[in-house]
Amino acid sequence: MAATEVARQSTDSARNLSLSGHVGFDSMPDQLVNKSVCQGFCFNILCVGETGLGKSTLMDTLFNIKLESDPVAHNQPGVHIKSSSYELQESNVRLKLSIVNSVGFGDQINKDESYKSIVEFIDAQFEAYLQEELKIKRTLHNYHDSRIHVCLYFIAPTGHSLKSLDLVTMKKLDSKVNIIPIIAKADSVSKNELQKFKIKIMSELVSNGVQIYQFPTDDETVAEINGIMNAHLPFAVVGSTEEIKIGNKMMKARQYPWGTVQVENENHCDFVKLREMLIRVNMEDLREQTHARHYELYRRCKLEEMGFKDTDPDNKPFSLQETYEAKRNEFLGELQKKEEEMRQMFVTRVKEKESELKEAEKELHDKFDRLKKLHQDEKKKLEDKKKSLDDEINAFKQRKSAAELLHSQAQQSGSQQTLKREKERKNSGFL
Ligand code: GTP
Ligand code: MG
Repeated sequence: MAATEVARQSTDSARNLSLSGHVGFDSMPDQLVNKSVCQGFCFNILCVGETGLGKSTLMDTLFNIKLESDPVAHNQPGVHIKSSSYELQESNVRLKLSIVNSVGFGDQINKDESYKSIVEFIDAQFEAYLQEELKIKRTLHNYHDSRIHVCLYFIAPTGHSLKSLDLVTMKKLDSKVNIIPIIAKADSVSKNELQKFKIKIMSELVSNGVQIYQFPTDDETVAEINGIMNAHLPFAVVGSTEEIKIGNKMMKARQYPWGTVQVENENHCDFVKLREMLIRVNMEDLREQTHARHYELYRRCKLEEMGFKDTDPDNKPFSLQETYEAKRNEFLGELQKKEEEMRQMFVTRVKEKESELKEAEKELHDKFDRLKKLHQDEKKKLEDKKKSLDDEINAFKQRKSAAELLHSQAQQSGSQQTLKREKERKNSGFL
């Protein structure tokens, strides 16, 4: 009785608040929408296809803007990746769009490695995200997500079958990215041929085990349209940024001498289907699949490679500390092994150098001895020569002095005879 009284009194004194709107947790989705709109969205498209297949034109047509894209020369030594980002806005929704191009794809004579730089680029974006996740201070809410959400694979409109380059590349990419195959420049294949070409492509993809992205049919709001569109894959598209007046409307079209191909006419090509599926219906699913399927696979493999597991062999939860210790010990063991190897290598190198030096020293000694002996022999030869020269000089001197003596004697006797003859002449004159 007393409690009822207190309750009545407190009800009387309570403030009466007027409701400003509907109250209930059913406003949660609206809160989510507001938050997402505030944050903005990002969407990253990878275009893979041979040079000149109309990749840039299709992107321009899809987003109805002129995206910067200079045509690429056909003589690239290898495939490289070029990424361009654009900030787009539609009503109050902001979209950060990245278009990644495989420049030079299919231009090389040897195409064995063509897929490599594409796979490496996709993995590098996953790795960057994983590194951010593993940081102590993570900033994932405003992280610029560069992971590829969809790969538009441009198939050349040959009307025959897929090239082996297409099959190999798609097979390498299918576990890393959502692939949507499209037949480029579909206006160059006739309607009947196109239908056969589509069937051929799909059967080749299936027989080679290539997993392409399937539009999801588990959400009943989009199940029907997605189911129908799955049957239309690969989309045969035509791109054009040129606007032509048809009736009293300006339309994107390609004009030929025999007629006009309207890009947005579903009887002419599947451009509208692609745009609907990619942008209007499944953009969020593509983003989700990238995170939940492809990134998850990359993350799992990478963490397993690093030695992390969920449970140990006894099915107990795996301790991070133990993993860290085990990895640290493994690392230290490897370091010690490497150190020992290097020490051994150093000792061997020193020994080798020592023996090399000894060898060189011995050679020098031998050379010195040889030179010394040579020097002595030369010296002895020179001494002998000097001695013989000295002897010769002495003999010469002796001969010279003897000759001089003879000469002076001859001179002496000559002058005596002259004197004698002079005397005799004088004597005979006086007589
Ligand atoms: P790179 O960036 O140099 O590899 O070329 P790309 O694949 O971006 O091709 P781009 O969009 O530059 O188009 C190359 C040529 O093909 C241009 O002359 C386009 O007008 C033409 N083109 C683009 N789309 C279509 C199409 O759907 N049909 C036809 N017939 N021609 C097209
Ligand atoms: Mg281009």
